Amino acid sequence: MCGIVGVLGEHEAAPLLVEALKRLEYRGYDSAGIATVNEGTLDRRRAVGKLVNLSDLLVHDPLPGKSGIGHTRWATHGEPNTKNAHPHQSGPVAVVHNGIIENYKELRAELARHQITPETDTDTETVALLTHHYMKQGMSHVDAARACLARLDGAFALAFLFDGEDDLIVAARKGSPLAIGHGEGEMFVGSDAIALAPLTDTITYLEEGDCAVLTRQTVDIFDESGARVTRPSRKINTDATRVDKAGYKHFMAKEIAEQPTVLADALRAYLDGNQIVMPDALPDFTKIDRITMVACGTAFYACLTAKYWFEQLARLPVEVDIASEFRYREPPVTPGTIALFVSQSGETADTLAALRYCAGKADSILSVVNVSESSIARESDIALPIHAGVEVGVASTKAFTCQLNTLLLLALKAAVERGAMSAGDCAEKLTQLRALPGLFNATLDRDPTIADAARQIAEARDVLFLGRGLMHPLALEGALKLKEISYIHAEAYASGELKHGPIALIDKSVPVIVMAPRDALFEKTVSNMQEVMARGGKVCLITDAAGAEATGSDVWRTITLPEVDPVLSPLLYALPAQLLAYHAAIAKGTDVDQPRNLAKSVTVE
Ligand code: F6R
Repeated sequence: MCGIVGVLGEHEAAPLLVEALKRLEYRGYDSAGIATVNEGTLDRRRAVGKLVNLSDLLVHDPLPGKSGIGHTRWATHGEPNTKNAHPHQSGPVAVVHNGIIENYKELRAELARHQITPETDTDTETVALLTHHYMKQGMSHVDAARACLARLDGAFALAFLFDGEDDLIVAARKGSPLAIGHGEGEMFVGSDAIALAPLTDTITYLEEGDCAVLTRQTVDIFDESGARVTRPSRKINTDATRVDKAGYKHFMAKEIAEQPTVLADALRAYLDGNQIVMPDALPDFTKIDRITMVACGTAFYACLTAKYWFEQLARLPVEVDIASEFRYREPPVTPGTIALFVSQSGETADTLAALRYCAGKADSILSVVNVSESSIARESDIALPIHAGVEVGVASTKAFTCQLNTLLLLALKAAVERGAMSAGDCAEKLTQLRALPGLFNATLDRDPTIADAARQIAEARDVLFLGRGLMHPLALEGALKLKEISYIHAEAYASGELKHGPIALIDKSVPVIVMAPRDALFEKTVSNMQEVMARGGKVCLITDAAGAEATGSDVWRTITLPEVDPVLSPLLYALPAQLLAYHAAIAKGTDVDQPRNLAKSVTVE
C-alpha cells in the first residue's frame, strides 16, 4: 500500500506533489510527506493523518524547489507518527517507499556494525541509511542507490532524491507498481497513472526488477540484471482518470448512485445485440474442465457468486479461493483449468502472487479488472475490463456490481458454448440484464426506507446477515460493507447454517438482515427467518413484493425491491446492502470514504 510520487518539473514541486498525493490517498492515509531539492538543498515536511494536515503544514512552512518526492502512508512497520512518516532521510538521501523490505533487520544489523543507527521504526529508513553508507564509501548517487536496491528483499516501489542534485530521481520497482510520466522538459514518477494524470498523459510502466534514472530530459531504465532496456510508453486516457464527487457528500454515495449508468455502459461494452462480445483469444470453454477463481475481499465475494453461475448455467465446476491462502496451500493446477483472477485495482499483492503461481500451469490466465493498465491485467493472457470507471471510495460498490456483470456475461458465454444453455435462453437473460439499470434506479428510490432501517441498525453492536444460494455471497458482502465503514461487528451465514451454531447469538439486540427474493429457495429461507424471530431476533427482510406479501407483518422491517430474474438478483440486492452500510456509517459519524485502518489498494501481503 502507500502511494509514492516524484517530480522533476519546471514549476514549484510541492503543489504538484500534494495534488498527486490526493489521487493516491486511496492507498493509505496514516501520514503524508514530501521532500524537495531547492537550489541544491534537500529538505522535507511530514504530517500525521490525512493529506490535508500536510497541506496545512505547507501553508505555514512552505517547501520551495522544483524537484521533489512525496508519499502517503499506510503503516506497516512503525506506528503512524511524524517520525515514521516518509520521506525518510539519511544525510543527502531521501526515500519514499511503497511495499515491505523484508530483510531490513539484517540490513540494520549490518549497518550497526558501522555505527549507523536508525532513528525510526520503519523498514524504509534502512534504504536511505544503506544508500548513504555506500555514498560515504565513494559511490555516485546512482551507483549507491543501485547497490542498495541489489541488497533489498521484499516488495517495493521506491523513489530516491538527493541533496545537491536537483535534476535527478532514481526510481525502482519490484512487486509494487510504478509508472514514469513524460512531460515537456519535465519528468514524473508515480504509483499509478491516476496520480500523474494532471501532469502528463504519456506513461511508461516499469517492469519487475527495473530501476530508472530520471532527469528532466532523459529516462534510463535498467532491468534486474543491470542491462539497459527500453520499455514502451503509452498514452493514457486522462478523462477516464478524472475524479470528483459530482456534488455528492461522499465518493461512496456518488459511486452507489451512478450504478445504473455505469452498468448500462458496462453492458454496452460487451453486448452487440444478443451477442456477447469478448476477445477471440478466450479459451474454448468446451475444452475446459474447471475454473479456479482467486481474489480478496469484495472481489472474492464476486467470485463466490460467479461459482453459482458457472456451475448452474454452464455446468462448469469452479473452485474459489482467497488469494492470501491460495499459493501457500500449493494447490495442483492441472491442464484443462482456467485460472481467473478478479481485482478492482489489479494490484492486490496476494492476487498477483496467486496469478504468478498459476502462470505456466493453467491453460489460460484470465483476469477481471477495473484498471486495465494494472499489473494483474498486464500479466494475464486476457484481461476483461469491468468498465466501472475510477472507484475512489475505499469500500467497493460499483466495482462489485460491474465485476458481477462481467462474470455473469462470461458464464452465459460459457453456458452457450458448452451447450448447457440455448442461444434463445441466453438472449432472454441478456434482455433481463439490459433492463437491470432501470431496476437499479427503482431500487435507489428506496433510499429513504433503507436509510431509516440503517439508523436503527447503527445502534446495534452486532449484526447478522443471512442468505441462501446466490444470496449467500451477497450476505457476506453486506456484512463486509457494514463492518468496514460503520465499524459495527457483522457476520454473514448461509441461512441453513444458522442452527449449526450461530443461532446462539440471537437475541433482541441483534438485527438479522435476511436477503431473500421470492425464488426457489425462498420458503427455506423464511423457515430460517422464523427460527430467528422465535428467539426474539429482529429481522430486516430484503425481498420483493411477493416475498413481502408471503411473510406478512411479523418481521421488524421489510425493504421491498423490484422483482428481478433470480439469476440477476445478486446485482440488484447489492444496492440495498451498500446503502444500509452507507447510512449506518453516516449515523455513526465515521469517515465513509476513508475508513480507519484500511486502504483501497492492498499492495502488501
Ligand atoms: C471492500 C474492498 C476490499 C477489496 C479487496 C480486493 O469494500 O474493497 O475487500 O475488494 O481489498 O481489492 P481488489 O479488488 O483491488 O483486488
